[in-house]
Amino acid sequence: MKGQEKSPLWEALTAHVTAGYIGFHVPGHKGRYIPQELSAAWGQDVFNYDLTELPGLDNLHAPVGAIKKAQELAAELYGARCTFFLVGGTSAGLIASLLAATKPGDKVLLPRHAHRSLLAATILGGLKPVFYPAVVDPVWGVVCGWDQAEALRIINQHTDARALVLVHPTYHGLVGPAAELIQAAHQAGLTVIADEAHGAHFYFHPDFPPGALRLGADAVVQSPHKLLGSLTQSSWLHLGSDRISPARVAEALRWLESSSPSYLLTASLDLARCQAAQRGREDWDRARQVAQEFTSHMLTIPHVSVLAQLPPAAVDRDPCKVTINISDLGLTGPKAACYLQYQHKIQVELVDFYTLLFIITPADDKCSTERAVQAVTDLAKQQPKTSSGPRALPPLPRVQEMAMLPRAAAYAGHRMVPVMQAVGKIAAQAVVPYPPGVALIWPGEEFTAEIVDILLSFIRLGITVQGPIIDGDQELNVAIVEE
Ligand SMILES: Cc1ncc(COP(=O)(O)O)c(C=O)c1O
Repeated sequence: MKGQEKSPLWEALTAHVTAGYIGFHVPGHKGRYIPQELSAAWGQDVFNYDLTELPGLDNLHAPVGAIKKAQELAAELYGARCTFFLVGGTSAGLIASLLAATKPGDKVLLPRHAHRSLLAATILGGLKPVFYPAVVDPVWGVVCGWDQAEALRIINQHTDARALVLVHPTYHGLVGPAAELIQAAHQAGLTVIADEAHGAHFYFHPDFPPGALRLGADAVVQSPHKLLGSLTQSSWLHLGSDRISPARVAEALRWLESSSPSYLLTASLDLARCQAAQRGREDWDRARQVAQEFTSHMLTIPHVSVLAQLPPAAVDRDPCKVTINISDLGLTGPKAACYLQYQHKIQVELVDFYTLLFIITPADDKCSTERAVQAVTDLAKQQPKTSSGPRALPPLPRVQEMAMLPRAAAYAGHRMVPVMQAVGKIAAQAVVPYPPGVALIWPGEEFTAEIVDILLSFIRLGITVQGPIIDGDQELNVAIVEE
């Protein structure tokens, strides 16, 4: 594509930094007043580039210059109508697109494995979520997609719903039958928002699943910071149709994001787009081959299995997400992750009851993956078990109808109670294992024995759960709505 070799925002920023201005504006460090530890570790230059809106550098919240051009190039690369750069991650983009597509009181259809940012959107927007169920692989205990038949039934049942959100792909890189779901949602008059946090790279190589923009989603939010080369927290939101007004998205982003957006983040988006446009195909071809080799080596390690076959509910997968199961070693995910971290300095992306997720990107090569294979081989040697391991618990409870709107529950009077006493009561706060950031219970849902069981299993394994607190008596407390 012509023009994709340019990086207008980066060029404007560099021109500004090298122009020799003496600034009497923020940021206060002015590239000179810097904590010594930071300049020692990061060098001086990064602080010169740490700028926000200035004449000649455009304005993220009302772009007319370099940012506008940079966003247009990103839109062109992805085949979107328009693209918004985000400094609040995909979280901000998902909230903004849902707020832009709805008005208070609207019903929205969400997958039960929706990211917690969508919970924030329903609270801020006063929305009524109706969940369609996730499918959990019974052996692996990971979410592998959604229940398509139920999703289609729910679309037909809730004719008054305004929008549908889908997760494409899941955290583990699994892709469901999105094209059919999007088509059914459109036929029912719904706006479709795709959470493509883990799929910004799908567009550059034919061996990856098709991206949601190509499948007809109206808004697609991606985290290039997760898979491409941009800095953490930088994301982008693409509009694929005119079902969502760009003006409403821009306004919602002005509600949500900083009025001093970081140019380190936005310039990194411009350059990550340029890098992907120039080299995306070859980079992801290499990454795919590295991942393939990594997978085949992992498959040779005794008692370690790799999620290599498509689980039910998935129709495709990202070859660069490699999930291994170590339950046959008699180990839990957190124990195995600890061993890899402390004995081998290997850190993984996601730890579940009995699985570990490795993400391979173009940054990887034989060297990095061989280290991981050696570490897992050593782990297996230390823990030789031949019996087949325990079955994983489902990481998500069954879908239930909301007893209250999330907004009403979040703002209701509430009190903390020991978790065992919460059964039958309405949650005032979400309970969210993180990562992956999928709530076990949303504010407005009723605590069930199943939810408490799953929560306690996460806690027992040492997985961080946001929401509950442990009081002085070491009792686990959760927030319930005061009756
Ligand atoms: C499926 C999914 N959606 C959305 C997000 C939020 O993305 P970000 O970290 O860019 O805000 C995440 C983060 O892990 C995620 O896993």
